[in-house]
Amino acid sequence: MTRPLTILCVGDVFGEPGRRAVAHLLPRLKKQHVADLAIVNVENAAAGFGVTPAIARDILDHGADVMTSGNHIWDKKEIIEYIVKENLLLRPANFPPGAPGAGSIVVKAGPHRVAVLNLMGRVFLPSLDCPFRKADDEIAHLRQETAIIIVDMHAEATSESQAMGWYLDGRVSAVVGTHRHVQTADERILPKGTAYITDLGMTGPTDSIIGVDPAIALQRFVSQMPNRFEPAKGPAMLQGVVIRIDPDTGRGLSIERLRVPLAD
Ligand SMILES: [Fe+2]
Repeated sequence: MTRPLTILCVGDVFGEPGRRAVAHLLPRLKKQHVADLAIVNVENAAAGFGVTPAIARDILDHGADVMTSGNHIWDKKEIIEYIVKENLLLRPANFPPGAPGAGSIVVKAGPHRVAVLNLMGRVFLPSLDCPFRKADDEIAHLRQETAIIIVDMHAEATSESQAMGWYLDGRVSAVVGTHRHVQTADERILPKGTAYITDLGMTGPTDSIIGVDPAIALQRFVSQMPNRFEPAKGPAMLQGVVIRIDPDTGRGLSIERLRVPLAD
């Protein structure tokens, strides 16, 4: 068999602590795992809400090869102009036709071609077009170029992520979930060869409530009054997975969780 292809998938980068973790850890992890490609979800990289062109460029400079997103992609208005020109930043493919940017891309990884497809769930999230039908359409096109396809399923309901994993089993190399900022321990290879995890977790502040300063998030829960969310400060961690794929068949061979604290 040809040498397995190694892909690093990094969970939602949250605010400055997440960007710090990417800057320090991503280059090291790529080297350590001999990764051919790194896919990073960046939709909370700008203080928890969206991503700016400068931040996206910085994350590319630190080793991201493709960036994915989700429901917060349009939070920073200047990203619209950027996403039209920079096809390495994806938005969910199942936004209605005419949305700026693209939901998938095929990139080179050494001698291989890898497709990355970004989808978003509809349970407890805005009602986009059907992610399952969109996945069928996209995969039909992408498979003409490569058998190696990685799907970022940005979803709130764990059931919807699992549904997508089973729906695409044997048709894509991996389905990895994002959005919840809590890593799940259900990584596995599904029966027909798709690597799967419900959620990659978060790359951001360790002492936080899904990235937000605990005092601020608690105030909202306890008082039921609106307040302004801010990222927590302090220690940070990178979370995600390392996936190994047989490049000849596109099948997932292994999936391993990463939880790497950033040393002070
Ligand atoms: Fe999200």
